[in-house]
Amino acid sequence: MERCDILIVDDDRQVREVLHQIFLGANYKCLLANDGREGLEVFRASRPPLTVTDLKMPVMGGIELLQQVRQADPDAAVIVLTGAADVKTAIASLKLGAYDFIMKPVNVDELLIAAERAFERRQLLIERRQYQELLERRVVEATHDLEQAYRQLQDTYRTTLEALGSALDTRDVGTESHSRRVHGYALATAREYGVPEKDLTELAHGVLLHDIGKIGIPDAILLKPGPLTPEEWQIMRRHPEIGKQLVEKIPFLRGAVPIVYAHHEKWDGTGYPRGLKGEEIPLGARIFMVVDAFDAITFDRPYSKAQPIDAAKAEIKRCSGKHFDPGVVTAFFQVPEALLAEIRRKSVEP
Ligand SMILES: [Fe+2]
Repeated sequence: MERCDILIVDDDRQVREVLHQIFLGANYKCLLANDGREGLEVFRASRPPLTVTDLKMPVMGGIELLQQVRQADPDAAVIVLTGAADVKTAIASLKLGAYDFIMKPVNVDELLIAAERAFERRQLLIERRQYQELLERRVVEATHDLEQAYRQLQDTYRTTLEALGSALDTRDVGTESHSRRVHGYALATAREYGVPEKDLTELAHGVLLHDIGKIGIPDAILLKPGPLTPEEWQIMRRHPEIGKQLVEKIPFLRGAVPIVYAHHEKWDGTGYPRGLKGEEIPLGARIFMVVDAFDAITFDRPYSKAQPIDAAKAEIKRCSGKHFDPGVVTAFFQVPEALLAEIRRKSVEP
């Protein structure tokens, strides 16, 4: 299709011809139409960037043509020609999206300047929109990249924490799969309890790092084969506080602090370091207490042989309301035993 710059719509043949000659003289390519309806057909077929239209025409007037053209192509520029009697309508046309109006009889310079301005303004609007679209695309891409980087970062944190949890276990309990099991049990119990998924990450961090404060306990005490003296116990009991101080300095891990600090508190207030009671103890720590006890009973430890699941559950039930939050115990008992077994099996897989 041949390029067309301007569509001229006027029911007066003479006016059409004059306008055509003026635009031809300025090197514009034009199409002509007799009235609004014909103008709209030509517009739809050729999509000229600029339409110059008379207002009063039979069949379809300039205002309706203007509306239809703008609807078909929001970038279309329209200039309205008007006689003195129709100035009000011409002004109203500006509100409907006309770029300009020109009084008849047409002044050649005025018409050409108006056309030139219309082309420029149209171009500017198109470029501005394209630029905005480009920016929006870039924002979408950047957001996507950022999300990907964030996920990688999260993965790195997670694996680092798991490695740290395993290292802590190896030094203390003697089995590196302890933290993995307790982590699995804690998440399963939290889900039964109704903890929202979005809060599980912090719970997981707290569980993995609960004993990080033992880094600050001398080996002579931590690894002592016999029972601890009262003085040694006093030092040993400082590990939640030491852990809290370590972890709260790391913004990413701040959510783990409540569990690290409170993982030796007991429901009846006989725990340490603060002697918190009942729901004063953060929920994550209450969950940890139950699943940690379960793991301690059902797995071999240096000084105790593993016991069956039923025995562990009986012991937990006995301590419910004393050491353990009864609500958490109920939730833990709701975790299917098959799931507990699967967590246990997976914890020893490489
Ligand atoms: Fe501990």
